[in-house]
Amino acid sequence: MAKRYRKIFGDSALYRKFALTEDEIAELKSSFAARLAVADRTDRKAFNELVAFLDVQLAHIGGGRYTLENSDFMRALTKIESLGRTLVFEPERAEVAQHGQKFTGERIEAWSVPRSTGMLLNLLVARVAPGRIIEIGTSIGYSTIWMAAALCRTGNAGIIDTIDNLPAKVDVAKSFFHASGLDERIVVHQADALTYLRSQSAGSVDFIFLDADKERYGEYLDEIERILTKNGIMVADNVFDFGKNMVSMLDKLKRSTSFLSHLIELDNGLVISKKC
Ligand SMILES: C[S@@+](CC[C@H](N)C(=O)[O-])C[C@H]1O[C@@H](n2cnc3c(N)ncnc32)[C@H](O)[C@@H]1O
Repeated sequence: MAKRYRKIFGDSALYRKFALTEDEIAELKSSFAARLAVADRTDRKAFNELVAFLDVQLAHIGGGRYTLENSDFMRALTKIESLGRTLVFEPERAEVAQHGQKFTGERIEAWSVPRSTGMLLNLLVARVAPGRIIEIGTSIGYSTIWMAAALCRTGNAGIIDTIDNLPAKVDVAKSFFHASGLDERIVVHQADALTYLRSQSAGSVDFIFLDADKERYGEYLDEIERILTKNGIMVADNVFDFGKNMVSMLDKLKRSTSFLSHLIELDNGLVISKKC
């Protein structure tokens, strides 16, 4: 297994249980490419343009040249980052502290996306200019802030509905959204993801970021297919490190005539799918 896929667990038993092997990744990529090859010409053209855009951005991010101007949202991002990627906090007092300290309360980890994934989401949202984003899995709001910052750059009045089922995380996220100065763009919902998705109207969202309980992604996809607008975009994280937990969604995407998909080889592996 390649080193780049071992970021979270190292070469642990947990990692080997859930991560995709190099062969499985190669098979996924060729299945997506095969579906793209037979897709309608108009859809194929638009999707290829988006993938080419992503390639350019990956080189850009890889070179470390991407910056945002100094602002409230950048300060909020920096604050979250300074607390570490796997922060732990006590829900009772919603106090954030470094992993490794002793707590009397329950320990909850943030599992925020890596900074480069945040950057890619930011650039993608700026390019797609969605009117409405749904994020499944807010945690403490790191990826939300990256996407909300991009919405401000599009010049339209886009908003993000972000969902998490843990009240303590929702509270912490709200405080970061306030600090970021982007809270007018963000609506936080403490809810179960599937219940929330089922309550949404058909064709009511343009962009979805999936970053929660991987084993339910197959069920989520059925609802996402219904609520995404035509040409809407779905991005799902952790294909490399939790791919085995999301086979149901990946299998549906491989066979789907409603979605065109591509594997983004960044950080923990993301799949981007466009609804035809
Ligand atoms: C990987 S973290 C999200 C990280 C966040 N997107 C970021 O990068 O800043 C996953 C989150 O999904 C939430 N979650 C898990 N299952 C859920 C469900 N069924 N409904 C709503 N939220 C859920 C967890 O509480 C957790 O905060």
